[in-house]
Amino acid sequence: MDRNEAKIWMERINEAVKYIQENTDSFNPLYGIILGTGLGQLAKEIDEKYSLDYGNIPHFPVSTVESHQGRLIFGYLEGKPVVAMQGRFHYYEGYSLKEVTFPVRVMKMLGIKRLFVSNAAGGLNPKMEVGDLMIIKDHINLLPDNPLRGPNLDELGPRFPDMSQVYDPEAIAMAEAFARENNIRCHTGVYVAVPGPNLETKAEYKFLRLIGADAVGMSTVPEVIVARHMNLPVFGISAITDIGFPIERVKEVSLEDVIAAASTAEPHMTKIIRALVANLDN
Ligand code: HPA
Repeated sequence: MDRNEAKIWMERINEAVKYIQENTDSFNPLYGIILGTGLGQLAKEIDEKYSLDYGNIPHFPVSTVESHQGRLIFGYLEGKPVVAMQGRFHYYEGYSLKEVTFPVRVMKMLGIKRLFVSNAAGGLNPKMEVGDLMIIKDHINLLPDNPLRGPNLDELGPRFPDMSQVYDPEAIAMAEAFARENNIRCHTGVYVAVPGPNLETKAEYKFLRLIGADAVGMSTVPEVIVARHMNLPVFGISAITDIGFPIERVKEVSLEDVIAAASTAEPHMTKIIRALVANLDN
């Protein structure tokens, strides 16, 4: 990839932004929200003003996972303007991480000041139960790629972005306090991203616990890296849909199980995100 390719990506981003602005009366979202597997309900709570199918937005990838709808929703949550991705893109679908993170670039150029990310994940902390939540305080990238690889998009961020404090401490503290006050079962921990699409072997779950992870999933980290490259504050939260550690607790998991468990956790997650959207100042 040469310098020219950076220019091509910038042009693609600008074309998508232009299309979106033309089709939303230049709606100016304050926050961006990415909804993970089985966690699309929050979208229903948005007072929707505009909705765009991914398929109509120039250069947007189209989600291949049936459990993910492919829509960008513009509207108000807690009275604040937001844009929500109902359905996201995963490395295992075959996209490059530049494609996976393209919508994050676009949301930033639409004006978002903060990114909220949710996902379904396997629990590795022995204190976890299916249906619990985990606020992400840090992550480990085990994907065999990085969305920032290749010429840097200098207009958007630095070549070597810092990752010493990826997840916004103020949002984490606010979410922890809210969960405590509302008796929501919620942990705070480290998320590790793996390529998938297969779930982990018992030996792999054990390895992921040993390297310091509390939850494992197949998403989030690429979008978060790109958000931090552009200096966006990030809040991430996982719905624990199955248990990977200790290995005696590992059971066979199907997509239906994951979606069912995510639906159990969803109302709590929605409450936490609403509370943050309502109470964060910027
Ligand atoms: N592993 C990886 N990804 C996942 C899991 C898991 O156990 N559960 C939900 N997404």
